[in-house]
Amino acid sequence: MTASSKAFASASDPSADVTSAHDKILIVDFGSQVTQLIARRVREEGVYSEIVPFQKAEAAFLEMKPKAVILSGGPASVLDRDAPAAPMSILRAGVPVLGICYGEQTMARQLGGAVEAGHHREFGRAAIEVIDACALFDGVWEKGGAYDVWMSHGDRVTKLPDGFRAVAKAPGSPIAVIADDARKFYAMQFHPEVVHTPDGAKLIRNFVRKVAGLKGDWTMRAFREEAIGKIRAQVGKGRVICGLSGGVDSSVAAILIHEAIGDQLTCVFVDHGMLRKDEGKTVVDLFRHHYNIPLVHVDASKQFLDELAGVTDPESKRKTIGRLFIDVFEAEAKTIGGAEFLAQGTLYPDVIESVSFTGGPSVTIKSHHNVGGLPDRMNMKLVEPLRELFKDEVRALGRELGLPDIFVGRHPFPGPGLAIRCPGEITREKLDILREADAIYIDQIRKAGLYDKIWQAFAVLLPVKTVGVMGDSRTYDYVVGLRAVTSTDGMTADFYPFDAQFLGTTATRIINEVKCVNRVVYDVTSKPPGTIEWE
Ligand code: XMP
Repeated sequence: MTASSKAFASASDPSADVTSAHDKILIVDFGSQVTQLIARRVREEGVYSEIVPFQKAEAAFLEMKPKAVILSGGPASVLDRDAPAAPMSILRAGVPVLGICYGEQTMARQLGGAVEAGHHREFGRAAIEVIDACALFDGVWEKGGAYDVWMSHGDRVTKLPDGFRAVAKAPGSPIAVIADDARKFYAMQFHPEVVHTPDGAKLIRNFVRKVAGLKGDWTMRAFREEAIGKIRAQVGKGRVICGLSGGVDSSVAAILIHEAIGDQLTCVFVDHGMLRKDEGKTVVDLFRHHYNIPLVHVDASKQFLDELAGVTDPESKRKTIGRLFIDVFEAEAKTIGGAEFLAQGTLYPDVIESVSFTGGPSVTIKSHHNVGGLPDRMNMKLVEPLRELFKDEVRALGRELGLPDIFVGRHPFPGPGLAIRCPGEITREKLDILREADAIYIDQIRKAGLYDKIWQAFAVLLPVKTVGVMGDSRTYDYVVGLRAVTSTDGMTADFYPFDAQFLGTTATRIINEVKCVNRVVYDVTSKPPGTIEWE
């Protein structure tokens, strides 16, 4: 089910609408790369928000009954034939509306203003000058002041729609922010949702709190209580199984479900032999001993490694692991018996329906394996209590559920595990070397206080040996690659700029402490053109 259809799922769908009692903001998506950030900024204000593609906005508005609407940016031009537009019914509904970039232009045009193609695209930082006060600027920007914003647009508004006044101008556009206080309509040419607009979050807060008058009662505590009620209603006296990966999402989902239905939940942890050092022990300690959650720990490493022998192609590795994972999980589920529900840690970004102007398929760069394929094959009903949350909200929920910070803040770890960090053929020996090197690298990062500044860091074992010298002897051993990136969602990433001393000390530790490694290199590729993982 897509996010938008979820938004208007009927009351008989128990997984739907955990947040029904709360104020909501509908975000109409015109295809901007940063629409998700709008939803996050709104939720940071304690107001639940959902994103729907513009084509479905009208129906979503009727079902969701939002207290305000935000129109996102997008790549189109309002001057194009068949340019996307906001439903007029929304603009006439009497709710506050905030238009951002493309959202501003379509709003202005649809309400009787005029938009022209700019002489040049304004892209990047720009200074905006406030001409007049308005509710959006209250306590943030003053009349006559100049402020930094992030622009990314080609067209500009040249004639105000009736009822509006210009409240800010930019070098390329005398009408850069427009306001109609009576209707509570505001629109801006720049992007307040990105961090490059330093006051952007405050402007969004003003829209949410002062313009729309919402109180912000959507907290993780409230979410926890309501989600528990929903899970109970959905599952009744049924049995649920949950595949744990050791990652944050499946762990938080499992703990939440256990809180709701106790031992009707059984967790299955499949150790495929490609986990990080001590991963299995950590998971068993946490779930079995700390939370008392029934946990089946399956050591399937032999089965996986036997099947992977001789497999070198990255996609074949992924597919083999995905297939075997389903086989093993399914076999365990049969042993447990009687479960009609399967729990998954699906997140909101996985279910947001994207805007497609071309309708064409996007290219598969890598086939990502979680437990995709399981629900169809096992014919089970899904319990997905996190499908309304962003990753940082799942972390907040994890803390709310008492998960230790060190666990909640863990870097993402891919389903195929170390298999895709060991280019070429995988062997037990190589995996052991990699595990040790990776553990030292992460230890170094933690000791330097850098772990939380980095989105993801890991070691890679290269399938080459090089010559070195240790003591008086020649060595011929493996090369370890170190990777560390910053990112907000894993879609794009920059390599992390460690200082030379950190890299040097870490390399020395790895070479001294890990047998069969005599060289360490650091990966300085961003994404794109690289990917985060090496395979
Ligand atoms: P890439 O390498 O595509 O990775 O830049 C982006 C993010 O996705 C994770 N990743 C995976 N996660 N199964 C997963 O569950 C996979 O097959 C997989 N491949 C990559 C990667 O670790 C990074 O966070």
